[in-house]
Amino acid sequence: MKQFISLHDVPDPAALVAKARALKYNPLAGQQLGKHKTLGLLFFNASLRTRMSTQRAAQNLGMEVMVMNMDKEGWQLEFDTGAVMAAGSQEHIKEAAAVVSQYCDIIGIRAFPSLVNRAEDYAEKLLTGFARYATVPVISLESATLHPLQSLADWLTIAEHSPVPRPKVVLTWAPHVKALPQSVANSFVQWLRQAPVELVVTHPGGYELAPEFGEGVPVEYDQDKALAGADFVYAKNWSAYHPYGKILGNFPDWMITKEKMALTNNGYFMHCLPVRRNVVVADAVLDSDRSLVIAQAENRIYAAQAVIATLLEK
Ligand code: CP
Repeated sequence: MKQFISLHDVPDPAALVAKARALKYNPLAGQQLGKHKTLGLLFFNASLRTRMSTQRAAQNLGMEVMVMNMDKEGWQLEFDTGAVMAAGSQEHIKEAAAVVSQYCDIIGIRAFPSLVNRAEDYAEKLLTGFARYATVPVISLESATLHPLQSLADWLTIAEHSPVPRPKVVLTWAPHVKALPQSVANSFVQWLRQAPVELVVTHPGGYELAPEFGEGVPVEYDQDKALAGADFVYAKNWSAYHPYGKILGNFPDWMITKEKMALTNNGYFMHCLPVRRNVVVADAVLDSDRSLVIAQAENRIYAAQAVIATLLEK
């Protein structure tokens, strides 16, 4: 593995899940691996879990960590080749990526989509630009369209809690007050279709995922039918792919409630967090002993640690 931007960078996803699981039971085993190595984390938007879990992962491996809040503390980046930088942008990504590579042995990048220009967002210009001009490996800490560290942690969480060898896993769209990225849903489908699970997606009509991720995954437009017999219910809001970045309707009855969870096979509730209580999911579900949201957040450490360790070993 040379970088970690999407599932396509991972030769054997199941083996990476197994590695994360092993690290969880012996988190300090690789303390020498990262000695005298530095992880640089560049954040272009807010984060709690990704920031802290990735730092903890690096510390478990004996690494130093540098963090930059690029949206507040960095120069405004230019991406276009041949650009005449006479307006807002102050530093070209060519120099920025090459310079950070002088200070760090691995670079993590956290980006956010515009939700305005689909072509630009799906081209992933920040992640691919850094990967192109950096001379060290690049890790996605969530990009405009994917969140692979989250999906790796989610696969691990499902593997740890599954009551059967091939559980039914339902990804359900849930209501929200703001237009949100498609990254968690895209990534969840991309990863979990490789896992030993029966994957079903449910959403109101119009919220179909990008074809490159959603094609071939069963969609059930009736949420109650989809939830029937589910072992895991993964709730997440996402904005429309077409018209891009828009909220098509509020659909408050898509919120996950105790009544909806009663349709499942005593299923577990999952969400990547942060979550808006009583909009996405009712308190009674989130606070129940079937909620795995804290376990998912914990597993973000071992997902990141498995990825960083693999890159360091290389
Ligand atoms: N799930 C997740 O990525 O959380 P943060 O946005 O807080 O990093």
